[in-house]
Amino acid sequence: MRLHSNPASPFGRKVMVAAHELGLADRITVDDHLLSPVEPSEAVIADNPLGKLPTMVLDNGHALYDSRVICEYLDHLAGGGRLYPQAGDARWRALTLQALGDGMMEAALLARYETFLRPEELRWQAWIEHQKLKVQRGLDWLEQNVDQLAEEADIGSITIACALGYLDFRFGADKWREGHARLADWFARFESRPSMQATLPRQL
Ligand code: BEZ
Repeated sequence: MRLHSNPASPFGRKVMVAAHELGLADRITVDDHLLSPVEPSEAVIADNPLGKLPTMVLDNGHALYDSRVICEYLDHLAGGGRLYPQAGDARWRALTLQALGDGMMEAALLARYETFLRPEELRWQAWIEHQKLKVQRGLDWLEQNVDQLAEEADIGSITIACALGYLDFRFGADKWREGHARLADWFARFESRPSMQATLPRQL
């Protein structure tokens, strides 16, 4: 399997953390791409008309995207039910945490594009603040509901951990741990997992 990704992408990291947890990482060849929303990669577009990372190309040539589909495929490949609780509250909780973590990553990325990519005179401050507020509300909710986060890896805990890792990587100055001590303790434990250590974000 081939994965179009970028070592800074939290969504790409999510896929690779899942792969490590499932013992599948060494079956994936990662192709790193330097791209932006306004400078897409033709190689990625050839496999995904949206041109987005991560995109996974299977050995039969079929392409899977986005990270939700890829992670579910990997879980299926590993026998199923490993990262996705099969029934009851645990399932809906993990899937909802995945949605929360994906949303926080999306908002953080939009804020990053607006500050880093957009020419200074065109920046829209209210937009940046709106995206950062989404992240803030997510952090506040997680602090109040930290008991919902699994100590083991499931799709919810993996996604939230990748969102927090991205905040450390790109928004360290915002000091998300302040006011979120219980969440910070959870993340310290989760981040020590080999799957997280093997996928630390870096600039391409
Ligand atoms: C980043 O540099 O923060 C980044 C790069 C690719 C995808 C997502 C984020």
